[in-house]
Amino acid sequence: MSGLQDKVVIVTGGARGIGAAAAARMAQDGAKVVIADLLEEDGRKTADALGGLFVQHDVTSEAGWASVVETVTGAYGRIDGLVNNAGVACNSLIENESLEYFEQVLKINLTGVFLGIKAVIEPMKAAGGGSIVNISSAAGLTALPFTSAYGASKWGVRGLTKIASVELGRYRIRVNSIHPGMTYTPMTAEVTQLGEGLFPLAALGRVGVPEEIGEAISFLVSADSSYVTGAELAVDGGWTTGENVMLAQVEAQTAEARSS
Ligand SMILES: NC(=O)c1ccc[n+]([C@@H]2O[C@H](COP(=O)([O-])OP(=O)(O)OC[C@H]3O[C@@H](n4cnc5c(N)ncnc54)[C@H](O)[C@@H]3O)[C@@H](O)[C@H]2O)c1
Repeated sequence: MSGLQDKVVIVTGGARGIGAAAAARMAQDGAKVVIADLLEEDGRKTADALGGLFVQHDVTSEAGWASVVETVTGAYGRIDGLVNNAGVACNSLIENESLEYFEQVLKINLTGVFLGIKAVIEPMKAAGGGSIVNISSAAGLTALPFTSAYGASKWGVRGLTKIASVELGRYRIRVNSIHPGMTYTPMTAEVTQLGEGLFPLAALGRVGVPEEIGEAISFLVSADSSYVTGAELAVDGGWTTGENVMLAQVEAQTAEARSS
């Protein structure tokens, strides 16, 4: 039997992109998935396709979280998993970033994760345990320019994950973070291109697809990772492992020298 069979899993930001791919992967393994997203049309379409439930939800609302928990426990009687995936990006130098946008990004990407963790503790305790997977980023492992708000939120998610893991282990609630690298989704479609060799910053030389992140999320939600908590898993093609771009430059220079 799969480690996800009949597990009830909430995926925030699950209407599209990485969240939708994770939900699809888990539904394939027998999970009952709940898509919690601001986007109603996409969210309903994704949930319907997976035989799941859609709840319109803003992760920054504490009252909204109480209502999600009530709806899900009302429908399925329990909550076993939570994927805190909803997020927004930013693309400014600190000197150009507004306080308003900085705070908005933190509210969605970090406070939203805090509220989500807090909301599911009681239902997960009642279920005898659970698994929470927080979606941080490569930007939560290294210092990427143009990401002050986003990077700060994702470093925060990484730390919050570890604190939650040590506090909640006694309730058999596991908490881990995933750190996707550049992944082709609606969030990044304007600045990325799919294809071998088109992302030399990563050791694998390409951007990822949502299904590759969904696979890792599914593993950490499922009972197949029953002894993993407080971990951070980079799913980034090796982007944050080393100086891949230097290697690409050296190879390009060598090729140029050979051809001249
Ligand atoms: N795509 C990448 O390259 C990449 C890399 C690293 C990390 N991530 C992270 O992965 C997660 C998913 O990103 P994606 O690329 O699939 O983006 P996406 O924009 O395709 O999906 C994000 C989803 O979150 C939802 N959302 C935004 N604000 C919300 C709110 N306040 N309440 C509820 N839902 C909200 C959106 O409606 C959308 O459906 C994000 O946390 C993102 O930071 C993405």
